[in-house]
Formats: sequence, C-alpha cells, structure tokens
Amino acid sequence: MSFTTFSALSLLASLPSALAWGTLGHETVALIAQNYVSDDTASWAQGILDITNDTYLATVSTWADSYRYTSAGSFSEPYHFIDANDDPPSSCNVDYDRDCGDGGCVVSAIQNYTQVDYALRFIIHFVGDIHQPLHDEALEVGGNDIDVTWDGDDNNLHHIWDTEMPEKKVGGYTMSDAQSWAKSLSSEIDSGSYSSDKDGWLDGIDLSDPVTTAMGWATDSNAYVCSTVMPDGVSAVEKGDLDGDYYDSAIPIIELQIARAGYRLAAWLNLIATGETSLKICEMDLTVGFFCG
Ligand SMILES: *[C@@H]1O[C@H](CO)[C@@H](O)[C@H](O)[C@H]1NC(C)=O
Ligand SMILES: *[C@@H]1O[C@H](CO)[C@@H](O)[C@H](O)[C@H]1NC(C)=O
Ligand SMILES: [Zn+2]
Repeated sequence: MSFTTFSALSLLASLPSALAWGTLGHETVALIAQNYVSDDTASWAQGILDITNDTYLATVSTWADSYRYTSAGSFSEPYHFIDANDDPPSSCNVDYDRDCGDGGCVVSAIQNYTQVDYALRFIIHFVGDIHQPLHDEALEVGGNDIDVTWDGDDNNLHHIWDTEMPEKKVGGYTMSDAQSWAKSLSSEIDSGSYSSDKDGWLDGIDLSDPVTTAMGWATDSNAYVCSTVMPDGVSAVEKGDLDGDYYDSAIPIIELQIARAGYRLAAWLNLIATGETSLKICEMDLTVGFFCG
C-alpha cells in the first residue's frame, strides 16, 4: 500500500461507518451463512462464541469494525480490503503480490484467521467485506474519496455501496431487517434466481489454499468495479443523483454479492469445522418433495 493511500485511510479512521459493508450487510451475510452451515459447524461456532441464540453469527459480525478503531485493534485496519492498483473502468484486476501490501490485506487475513479458530469473528466479517467490490479497489481509496450525491445529500461512493443502497433495498438496518433480507436471499439460493448458480459459487474453494480461494472471491468482486460501480469512470458517478438509475443497476449486484458471501462463508466455516463443505441443501426432489438435508 502506498504511503498516500495509508495516510488517507488513517484520516478516515475517524469515520467508522465509511469503510465497510454496514451493519445490515454484515448481519445478513452471517444470517445467510447460519442457514447453510451443517449442524456440527453450528455447534462448533456456538461453542467458540458462547452464543446459542438464532443470531449467533450475526451478533459478532460487526465486531471487527469496532475493534479496528481501538488502539489494540489498529493493526487490523488493512485487513478489511485489498487495494487493487488496476485501472477502472477500462481494466479491472487484482494481483496478490502487487496489491496486498506489507501490512496485510483482506486476502492474507482470511488466510491467517482461517488457520486459527479463535479468530472466527474476523472470518465472519472479512468474508463479507471481500464481497463488497470497493473493498477490492485502490482507486480513490476504494471510492471513499469520490464525492457523490445520494437522495439529495452529499455522500461518497464507498459509503453508498456499503450502506445507503442496501438500506434503501431493505428499508432499515436492524437485526430484524437483516433477518428478512437473509430469508429472501436464502430462498433465492434454495429455489429462486440463484439456485442454478450456487454450486458454481463454490468453484475453487480449497481450505489448503486460502490465498487462491480468497483471491478468486476478490477477483469476482473487483470485476464489478469496472462493470457496475463505475462503468463510465469516476466523473460519471460524480454527476447527478445516484438514487435513481444508478441504484437500479447496482442493487442486483449488491444482492448477489451478499448472497454469495453468506453461502461461501457457510462453506468455509464447514470446511474449517468439519473438513467438508457439506452445505445444507434445500430442494425439490421428485421422490420425497421439498427437503433440507
Ligand atoms: C443473542 O445473544 C447475544 C449474546 O448474548 C446478544 O448480544 C444478542 O442480542 C442475542 N440476540 C437476540 C436476537 O436475542
Ligand atoms: C498474517 O501472518 C503473517 C505471518 O505471521 C504476518 O506477517 C502478516 O502480517 C499477517 N497478515 C494478516 C493480514 O493478518
Ligand atoms: Zn470491515
């Protein structure tokens, strides 16, 4: 990471909500994962976290964002993103050696914390972050320095992706909003628009190679910087109110990325806990009807 980028990020440390999927996004990712982890993984995670209620992963999903702003946790600040030094909108790509930086990044953090199980809270959070396209982009500090208009007010591009657009879609940011979003996205995974793609979401997942696995996720996510976040470059998103056509084109990608993040998190936790992805499957079987196994 360049010194300039680092300084800009340090300044932004005083704006806790500016650099991550908001509470709603992280809680929804965790709730989707809860729907797909195996029973063994659920017991394993509940034991580590010492929480057994029906929001056990979601309750801890934003802990890493609070921790990064404490003096004990400031070391973890770079772990929330990977600053792709690419050239959107003409070229999007992520390169681990070029982009991860000496202080670590979200890919090395997923690797490190996959190897130590007490770090479950970090993993729940970082698998969410890596699916936000602007967490995989260096340009303008991941869009934090791109001033935009949202619903008549000044805002920045990163923040509307983290928070404004998800909250507009769902209508709030409470745990019960996250629960209703997780329910509807899980039903798209089980039997709706994602059902035929969900197996492909796990292509290349390999617990013995977390860097390759997480780089695959970062690369998928970064591609949306060119195709959807700023298809016509920075100046185009600086014009007009993004609470309109821009929102309409972005929200299907946000929903897809939240669903993918939750599904991949479930598979990753199952691998850590049990060695197998063994996702619960809910589907129509001609002989036994609708079942979850
Ligand atoms: C679940 O338990 C945790 C830890 O005690 C608590 O913080 C959280 O609010 C609880 N969630 C619900 C929905 O009761
Ligand atoms: C991962 O662990 C290595 C070796 O201990 C360390 O150098 C690196 O900074 C860590 N990175 C992250 C993101 O945790
Ligand atoms: Zn984060």
